[in-house]
Amino acid sequence: MIKTDYLVIGSGIAGLSFALKAAGKGTVAVVSKKQLSDAATNYAQGGIAAVWSREDSFEEHIQDTCEAGAGLCNPEVAGVVVREGPQRIKELVEIGVNFAVTEGKTENDFELGLEGGHSKRRIFHSGDATGAAIEKTLIESAKKNSNIIFYENHIAIDLITTGKLKRKFAGKDEKCWGAYVLDTKGKKVITFLARAVVLAAGGAGKVYLYTTNPDISTGDGMAMAYRCGATLANMEFVQFHPTCLFHPRAKSFLISEALRGEGARLLKKDGSPFMEKYHKLKELAPRDIVARAIDAELKESGDDHVYLDITHRPADFVKKRFPNIYQKCLEFGIDITKNYIPVVPAAHYFCGGVVSDLHGQTSVRNLFAIGETAFTGLHGANRLASNSLLEALVFAHRAGEKASECVSENDEFPSVPQWDIGHATDSSESVVVSQNWEEIRHFMWNYVGIVRSNKRLERAKRRIDLLLAEISEYYWDFIVTSDLIELRNIAAVADLVIRSAQGRKESRGLHYNIDFPGLDKSAKDTYIRRFDNKP
Ligand code: FAD
Ligand code: SIN
Repeated sequence: MIKTDYLVIGSGIAGLSFALKAAGKGTVAVVSKKQLSDAATNYAQGGIAAVWSREDSFEEHIQDTCEAGAGLCNPEVAGVVVREGPQRIKELVEIGVNFAVTEGKTENDFELGLEGGHSKRRIFHSGDATGAAIEKTLIESAKKNSNIIFYENHIAIDLITTGKLKRKFAGKDEKCWGAYVLDTKGKKVITFLARAVVLAAGGAGKVYLYTTNPDISTGDGMAMAYRCGATLANMEFVQFHPTCLFHPRAKSFLISEALRGEGARLLKKDGSPFMEKYHKLKELAPRDIVARAIDAELKESGDDHVYLDITHRPADFVKKRFPNIYQKCLEFGIDITKNYIPVVPAAHYFCGGVVSDLHGQTSVRNLFAIGETAFTGLHGANRLASNSLLEALVFAHRAGEKASECVSENDEFPSVPQWDIGHATDSSESVVVSQNWEEIRHFMWNYVGIVRSNKRLERAKRRIDLLLAEISEYYWDFIVTSDLIELRNIAAVADLVIRSAQGRKESRGLHYNIDFPGLDKSAKDTYIRRFDNKP
């Protein structure tokens, strides 16, 4: 058993930023299911949005955020995130993140990028590998802090709550005390007890067949929160990034929206542009519109991809601004300074998640959710590009302040039983896990993707119900492995997406249902909780 003041689940931008803030006030255990840098953060390309230029204003960033969010953004949250953004960026610069600076200018003259939905240049970037620059610096800083202890290759299985201990959900008094965590190398389950528990486990792109996300993005934080009775919201709003590289050997490689910010155009296979048919901002329209436009063009033409073309920009500029994308495409025989880039949309970001307030606090006491796992109300029905890293930073800071109150209460830890394996045995049937995993990802792509219908959602619901029952049976019969834990979580998240999508009787932002094509002005956020009929 490990006792700590703060338990942080996840080592992306959210978890590490929180750990750095909390370490000044107590001991922090960071568990991460693979290596520390195995996080979506490490793959972020475009950058972080924040108001910096004199030509920009907080009001404009808030307005762009709310416009992209299609009527569901919480303006108070947008105001907080946008106004606190520049200070959080300064802190990243102070610890050593090397955001690009305009050539020949002083060190604070940052070269700001542009992406879809932004009316001004406001994207801080480190070339096209911004996430890697941030992740590396955060890891280096956190490693220097003796109050932070890392547990790599440790996957959280479930949260320990008062309800779990008493076998009865305590409603408003539900309190989180820690988590059961599988040490995947040592092959044992460890009980972590903490006075504040932080879910920073990232998103859930792996619920879909095609995704820009790394393998760790299996929605574990959302699924654990749901199982312990926390409230989740807006799980139907899954963002599909319009431009993922289409190549048989490329696994989930994103072609940043920043290319379109620098003039790249979308073309059909015959070389003709099409975005002007869909939005006045053409290639720089909000992401939901661009992804749906590509989907419509592909369905109409029967083609399997469209092209992105940046060949009209000088080769030197392209190589310098997008070195990572240039190099990666070259490995697949595509010289982006001369050739069109084949692209398709892919699942990218979960706008919904675990409901958390302005301090990252969830509906379960002492349980916080930050980063992509959380639903703060910032993104509404469609996230504005490069607002995710920003949201994670702002809420990690705010949660850090609030969680210190839980720690200073200094409550006695309850008596918690060790993980009980019961009659579970080692499974010799891992094919069941891979089969179920593939099945879920296929039908989520086909039935609960960019364009949905009532029939497709019903089909998906019937399938997920069967699989949930099968997985639950299998889960209790066999000793837990990380594959089984992740399968159980992607099934739980798929079910939440389907049920939330079925509940929304309109089309808005990222949720488009051909049976309800119009907008219902009275429609609000979709809340979902496991113990809805309980106190
Ligand atoms: P992550 O960075 O995904 O970290 C999650 C952590 O939790 C990982 O360490 C993981 O191992 C750990 N974890 C998960 N489950 C468990 C478990 N059960 N037990 C223990 N550990 C666990 N956003 C922007 O704002 N700008 C961009 O330019 C941008 N580009 C992107 C490009 C790509 C290719 C992708 C995939 C996303 C991009 N995004 C971008 C989105 C953004 O990167 C993510 O939303 C953000 O990094 C999420 O940060 P996080 O800390 O919440 O989660
Ligand atoms: C990108 O670089 O296109 C990703 C930006 C984001 O997801 O915010």
